[in-house]
Amino acid sequence: MSPESTGPAAVIVLAAGAGTRMKSRTPKILHEIGGRSMVGHALLAARSITPLKLALVVRHERDRVAGHVSALDPEALIVDQDEVPGTGRAVEVALKALDAEAELSGTVVVTYGDVPLLTGELLAELVTTHEAEGNAVTVLTAVLDDATGYGRILRAEDGTVTGIREHKDASEAERSIREVNSGIYAFDAAVLRTALAKVTTDNAQGEMYLTDVLGLARDAGGRVAAVVTEDRWQVEGANDRIQLSALGAEHNRRIIESWMRAGVTVVDPATTWIDSTVTLDEDVRLLPNTQLHGSTTVARDAVVGPDTTLTDVNVGEGAKVIRTHGSGSTIGAKASVGPFTYLRPGTVLGETGKIGAFYETKNVTIGRGSKLSHLGYAGDAEIGEDTNIGCGNITANYDGEKKHRTVIGSGVRTGSNTVFVAPVTVGDGAYSGSGAVIRKDVPAGALALSLAAQRNAEGWVIANRPGTASATLAEAALEPTSVSTSSQSPATTEEGKQA
Ligand code: UD1
Ligand code: CA
Repeated sequence: MSPESTGPAAVIVLAAGAGTRMKSRTPKILHEIGGRSMVGHALLAARSITPLKLALVVRHERDRVAGHVSALDPEALIVDQDEVPGTGRAVEVALKALDAEAELSGTVVVTYGDVPLLTGELLAELVTTHEAEGNAVTVLTAVLDDATGYGRILRAEDGTVTGIREHKDASEAERSIREVNSGIYAFDAAVLRTALAKVTTDNAQGEMYLTDVLGLARDAGGRVAAVVTEDRWQVEGANDRIQLSALGAEHNRRIIESWMRAGVTVVDPATTWIDSTVTLDEDVRLLPNTQLHGSTTVARDAVVGPDTTLTDVNVGEGAKVIRTHGSGSTIGAKASVGPFTYLRPGTVLGETGKIGAFYETKNVTIGRGSKLSHLGYAGDAEIGEDTNIGCGNITANYDGEKKHRTVIGSGVRTGSNTVFVAPVTVGDGAYSGSGAVIRKDVPAGALALSLAAQRNAEGWVIANRPGTASATLAEAALEPTSVSTSSQSPATTEEGKQA
């Protein structure tokens, strides 16, 4: 069977809660771990089991959440929860909306928008067990050391699941149960529909509890069972910033472990952070304190780090990127970047090229083998192949109002401290002298000089700065050498020290 045909009828992702403990202007489920919002992780897990339909229930910060979700998953059905509170109500409104076209039959999965480490594998296992056992409800559970706050799993003497008791409604004896409800379930659609119609708000919190469906399904003769996971991280929600960072660290640990299994060397996993959207090839080496974000890709044999942050950067095969901060850039095969280099969006460095220490680049295309080795800025420019840009060169691309382009050919050699006042074009094989200010186009093969002839005002220091160390040393240097001066040398040195 194709994966499309094995998925459940629907997944309902609950995301109407306020998330007040996050103390944030950003809705809780929009907070990110591993470069993806929590709800983004939830949607990926949900989609990976290929449901026929996917609904997401919203209420708090409705428009922001809906906008974010629609951008990530345009096919998701956004459903508004009304003022009736509780997870039972959330699922009821979603089921009504999903039934509107045609009444659902088969398996309906419920998950949360704030449980980011849940994997598609575990969801698939839940659905497979549910369907293989012919259950009315299958709940995903975990056994925790501290179960405070969670709904507890009630089991009969023979071990069968009889229901769920919310912490606030539980007796002392029930509170000692350590098996908890994750809030993730597989339901038979018809059982769910019938049971929800009977769920009331008659409980400690005055909410419609989805958890009541388990007892109701059992009363109606359905089989209720649990899948117990050993991996508590997969059912853990982030309610505050402390849990958010703990889940983020665990997520990172898992990502790094999977890349190491795939053949990537990570010298120091504790200081290496990799978004779930990054792609790495075999034999990539990541040195300590490296962060890779967004759509960054690193090709085989490349070395990144130490102390490097790359966002949406493509690193070519065998390239070296040392102590660099880069975004929106492409680094060619066997090219080298760093240390202390700032690559801004639109930087494209050709194969075997180099952008060296204390360079900033932006919107610049640098051809194969060209080198910008030290100290400079290259922006809004195009540089050909095998060109050497001297130390301290700058493209003066901004006239205070508009930006202009600099075009430099191939095989060019520029002297130190050349300034290109854009718009300007330098032909192939041209040279520039040190300190040249290039305001006019330079033809191919020309040497561009913009220097006034150097003039030396001889004796200026001795005349204008008398008594200074410089003047004293100059006098000594200018004194004609003679055989009788040997006794004067120590005296001169003495004076020099006093100055
Ligand atoms: C719920 C379960 C509890 C379980 C726990 C796991 C119920 C009654 N209780 O607890 O057994 O151990 O989850 O975390 O279901 N939500 C809505 N609409 C609402 C209320 C909640 O969409 O009216 C969403 C929230 O956004 C969140 C999820 O449902 O994603 C769970 O809500 P939360 O309040 O955290 O869970 P509890 O009800 O405390
Ligand atoms: Ca919760």
